[in-house]
Amino acid sequence: TTGGTDDQKRRAGERAAELVTDGTTVGLGTGSTAAFAVRAIARAVDDGLDVRGVPTSFATRELAREEGVPLVALDEVETLDLAIDGADQVDDDLNAIKGGGAAHTREKVVDAAADRFVVVADPSKTATTLDRAVAVEVLPDARTTVAARLRELGGDPTLRRAERKDGPVVTDNGNLVFDCEFGPIDDPATLSSDLSAIPGCVEHGLFVGMVDEVYVGTDDGVEVRTR
Ligand code: A5P
Repeated sequence: TTGGTDDQKRRAGERAAELVTDGTTVGLGTGSTAAFAVRAIARAVDDGLDVRGVPTSFATRELAREEGVPLVALDEVETLDLAIDGADQVDDDLNAIKGGGAAHTREKVVDAAADRFVVVADPSKTATTLDRAVAVEVLPDARTTVAARLRELGGDPTLRRAERKDGPVVTDNGNLVFDCEFGPIDDPATLSSDLSAIPGCVEHGLFVGMVDEVYVGTDDGVEVRTR
């Protein structure tokens, strides 16, 4: 979560939820902005919409259940019609950084499997050049070797710590997360391939060439960006 207002996030999430049509399978993203889309989809379900949601995290699964969105497990689908997800930062080429909620591995699987992937964001998330820390989910035993490879790539990794527990954040998949500072990322495609090639890196939060549209909620509407 960064600096956007709830109203901005709500406008983006609700507009994206209007894309959901009858008989489709939809990826349900993680975070406060995607949650507005999940709630809007739930209201449409109440009004008769026939949809199946694929949650991208434990938190989103819980929210969707509470709100009444019918769910299907990730391993029961091969493709999805649409995915709606938040992001931590999006650049002018629609490359994104995700993983602020440590859900990026499942998000990437779901978002990449969707025919159409829409990011919902607020103006505080947009940037000319990506420069936020990149979340890297790692196999616990591989954290020291992965950290060394991240430093070789020019990164400065910090193990993400839990807030109300002594110890690290453990992901929904039982792994650990580094937040890795690279400074301004001039070549996200190359960094993405380099990170993916590290043995023990389960998945990283750079989403390159995946996003089809970004809905940026503003104070008076929604700005749609397409590639
Ligand atoms: C989860 O790991 C992230 O990728 C989220 O999608 C991201 O942090 C967006 O969350 P907010 O909408 O709350 O900013």
